Amino acid sequence: MPKLDSDSIVTAYDRYSNFYDLLFGRVLQDGREALSQCLHQAVGHNILELGVGSGLMLPLYPARFRVTGVDISPGMLARAKQRVEGNRLNVELYLIDAETTGFQDGAFDHVVLPYVYSVTPQPMKLMHEAFRLCRPGGTIWILNHFSGLGLWDRLARPLKPFARGVGFRPDFSYQTYITDLGLTIAKVTAVNLFGLSRLVQVQRGEDIPDALTFCYEQEVSCTQVVVPTLLQA
Ligand SMILES: C[S@@+](CC[C@H](N)C(=O)[O-])C[C@H]1O[C@@H](n2cnc3c(N)ncnc32)[C@H](O)[C@@H]1O
Repeated sequence: MPKLDSDSIVTAYDRYSNFYDLLFGRVLQDGREALSQCLHQAVGHNILELGVGSGLMLPLYPARFRVTGVDISPGMLARAKQRVEGNRLNVELYLIDAETTGFQDGAFDHVVLPYVYSVTPQPMKLMHEAFRLCRPGGTIWILNHFSGLGLWDRLARPLKPFARGVGFRPDFSYQTYITDLGLTIAKVTAVNLFGLSRLVQVQRGEDIPDALTFCYEQEVSCTQVVVPTLLQA
């Protein structure tokens, strides 16, 4: 399958930014609202959204939380800024790669990944960063489609060769990206049309799970650039 890299994601989402809300607003909104309801019952002071996009989640966060949003697409972030200003929201926005944010360890009570896990270049790296940023005892919220459901697989199959163009991986395995990582899962809820997406609530324990660290190290080592060695004639 064609690889998603930072350049292809920025290109795709800068292009989407003018009509993202029209294309992915209503159709993915039930999932955002389910996440919002959970956060209304949650404790804590602050939330970090990785891949904030045009900011569709931002008005749905309970007002008592301090909210930070990050994205790598300047076009999407400009939309988020308009939404923050239009709704007079108290949100900090940053143009940075969510896989390497530079925020302090354990700085957030809730780390939220709405529809970004299957988009980011290195998903294990993003999940590892989410764990690093979430305080022990905090919660990581993943909202995404996953392959393995008959209907989703049928819908997604024709898109697989075009992952770079559409800006997400249509083929995204729940087994590989959730089950195999040794996460402590508190709750999984099927959301959106026909239950095609899932909202996964993950409890952040004292340590980052060994299986996640292992998968993250594998992913990073597989993507290191190998400099070709010139052989002497
Ligand atoms: C499908 S959109 C989701 C936007 C929003 N969370 C929502 O609910 O609609 C995915 C967003 O993640 C951003 N993104 C993907 N990989 C990223 C990364 N490594 N760092 C920061 N943003 C990223 C994209 O630019 C895009 O705006």
